[in-house]
Parts: sequence; C-alpha cells; structure tokens
Amino acid sequence: MILGICGSPRKQATEYVLKKALEIVERSHEVKFFTVRGKTINPCRHCDYCIKNKKCIIEDDMKFIYETLPKASGIIMATPVYNGGVSAQLKAIMDRCRALGAQNFNFLENKVGMGIAVGGDRSGGQELALLQIHTFFILNGAIPVSGGAFGANLGACFWSKDSLNGVKKDKEGFRTLKKTLKRFLSKV
Ligand SMILES: Cc1cc2nc3c(=O)[nH]c(=O)nc-3n(C[C@H](O)[C@H](O)[C@H](O)COP(=O)(O)O)c2cc1C
Repeated sequence: MILGICGSPRKQATEYVLKKALEIVERSHEVKFFTVRGKTINPCRHCDYCIKNKKCIIEDDMKFIYETLPKASGIIMATPVYNGGVSAQLKAIMDRCRALGAQNFNFLENKVGMGIAVGGDRSGGQELALLQIHTFFILNGAIPVSGGAFGANLGACFWSKDSLNGVKKDKEGFRTLKKTLKRFLSKV
C-alpha cells in the first residue's frame, strides 16, 4: 500500500498534483490518501510521553497516520513551499512521528519515499522543501528516491504561480513528477 500525504491546508495545487500522482500509482498498487486540510494536527510538545509509553499523548487526526504509515510500503509526501521549506502542517506530522520512532527506531525501514514540492515562485525553495522531506525519510530508515538528473534531481518540483490553473499548465513540473514516479514505482 502506498500512502500519499498532502501537506496543504487547501484544495488547490498541491492536492491536485498529489492526486494526479496517486492516479498513476493506483494502476499497480493499493493507495491511501491523507490530507492535513480540515484536520487537527497539533505540534509535538516534546513531553516524552511517547518515549515512556510507546504512543503519543495527544489525541487528534494523527491517529490515521499512526495506524496507516507503518503498513505502507511507499510514501509520497507532497507539500506547498512555505518560506523555502515544507508547510508547518507537514512538519508537525514529521515531528509527531517521534511516537512511531519510540515503538521502532527504524519505523520507515525498507519503505520507499518520494517528495513533491509546489511553490508559487519558479525558484521558491522547492528543492529545500524536498531536502526536508528526504531528511525525514533518511533519518527514519526509508529509501528516498528522486527522478534523477536532467530535470528531477531531488524529486517533483512544481511552479504554481499561486493558483490551481498555474500548476495545471506547468508541463515541466509534470515531467519531473513522471520521472520521479518511474523511479519510485521501480523500487517500491
Ligand atoms: C505562508 C506562505 C509562505 C509561502 N512561501 C513560499 C516560498 O517560500 N516560496 C514559494 O515559491 N512560494 C511560497 N508560497 C506560495 C505557495 O507555495 C504556493 O501558492 C502554493 O501553490 C500553495 O500550495 P496550494 O496551492 O496547494 O495551497 C507561500 C505561501 C504561504 C501561504
């Protein structure tokens, strides 16, 4: 099962491209989709309850991630670029995964991960956001994949021009998505 996680609080460009990616993935794999939109994902408090009790003390919409992420063989994280990085909502998901790490230090071991970053500017920090996603994968044991050289060096990068119509017209973005998905699907 492949889990797609959307880090945008809106039903706009990021959700659109992630769903396009999942349409391709579901030709060969079971797919699950999670969005932060309309959900409550509180930030990690570093209370260390999870270290002692192997679960998070906060009860909110992370429940779906706690139950689903360990069962996934592949993860696609999609984020809007906020201040040259991932959205605060996606970062909260990453931080709250400390509770999964408390159960199993390598909780992403053998899973394959890829990232999609959607910025309003052409060079707005998409690759920095992808690096943040890859760092999360690497430090928790997952295998990060990109689309390789000639365009998709760290993964799928989109230029939305701050609109859904803008991202739909980003042919280069969809080329990077295709290249990244090809590698992801060959490994997952
Ligand atoms: C708080 C905030 C910070 C942003 N920072 C950046 C940025 O650093 N670089 C960039 O290219 N776009 C930036 N944007 C624009 C969004 O990345 C862009 O509009 C994107 O398409 C939003 O994704 P969505 O359409 O899924 O909501 C920012 C938007 C917001 C709300």
